[in-house]
Amino acid sequence: MISAPTHAHLRRSLLYVPGSEERKVAKAASLGADAVILDLEDSVAETRKGEARILITAALRSRTASGPEWLVRVNAIHTPHFDADLACAVESAPDALVIPKVDGPDVLRQVDARLAAAERAAGRPVGSLKLFAMIESARAILNAPAIAGASPRLTGLILGHVDLSLDLGLTPGPAGAGIIHHARCQLVLAARAAGVDAVDAVVLNIQDHDGCRAEATQAAAMGFVGKQAIHPGQIPIIHQAFTPSADRVRRAERILETWRQAQTEGRGVVALDGELIELPVVAMEQRILDRARRAG
Ligand code: COA
Ligand code: MG
Repeated sequence: MISAPTHAHLRRSLLYVPGSEERKVAKAASLGADAVILDLEDSVAETRKGEARILITAALRSRTASGPEWLVRVNAIHTPHFDADLACAVESAPDALVIPKVDGPDVLRQVDARLAAAERAAGRPVGSLKLFAMIESARAILNAPAIAGASPRLTGLILGHVDLSLDLGLTPGPAGAGIIHHARCQLVLAARAAGVDAVDAVVLNIQDHDGCRAEATQAAAMGFVGKQAIHPGQIPIIHQAFTPSADRVRRAERILETWRQAQTEGRGVVALDGELIELPVVAMEQRILDRARRAG
């Protein structure tokens, strides 16, 4: 199953780039990720937040229209960095902000209000910056449906399974089983019910390409639109998992052709290779073709 697009962007891979690392920031646009997350939060040392804001502002100024979608992850609203991060974001105008530690809808509503004030102060149109909310605690998982409906700016929910594991008293591990997998299911349902994108967990081991492939394939089959990446080597693996294969595209074309033929013969349902084709099946097959076309 492949999810419906809710906007023009493919969001198969969202690559984190530590905002304080000039070399990585400079390379970010050329690595092929669908989206880049310029990070001000956990990958930037407390003492280097200011430096990271300057680098991020410069990077966003020099971006081109044909590049990836640009996201900035700010520090959480309860930290002393939040106001300066917000000012940096409004000034540098990325496509969206990633808000960490969104434990409940109230957090997102407060972020929305503070952002609107910052947009007004900067003379920018209010509401122009979209938001992704990071779901990374037990409370956040239980509140996910309310969070997903808390702001019209919201465009996606992102699973932060490492912080979630910490909150649950676990040790870091893969996301494909156990309670983390349960959380993934909850997140997809909450996101889809609100019509926003669901983005899957990171794979911390950058050498474990098989693990990354397995988890990304599972995520695509669950309705996630994409997966977070921390290393360039993970991007092609993730893209493959979230892009319909040539075989799958041929099958979709065959199903649609069979359906069109049945329609011309005045039939509403038809079977192909023993499987029923009905309207929702047709819609899903069309979505697969659309996704393949958008992935080129
Ligand atoms: N963004 C941009 N470029 C990256 C990158 C990233 N996330 N990760 C690696 N690269 C670049 C490196 O700079 C290096 O380029 P170079 O050879 O031109 O210097 C090349 O890709 C190969 O990198 P490699 O040596 O394999 O990795 P590393 O040891 O330098 O870094 C990590 C490993 C995990 C520290 C690094 O991938 C990273 O910083 N990831 C992002 C972590 C993050 O932001 N986490 C927060 C959310 S969980
Ligand atoms: Mg986190």
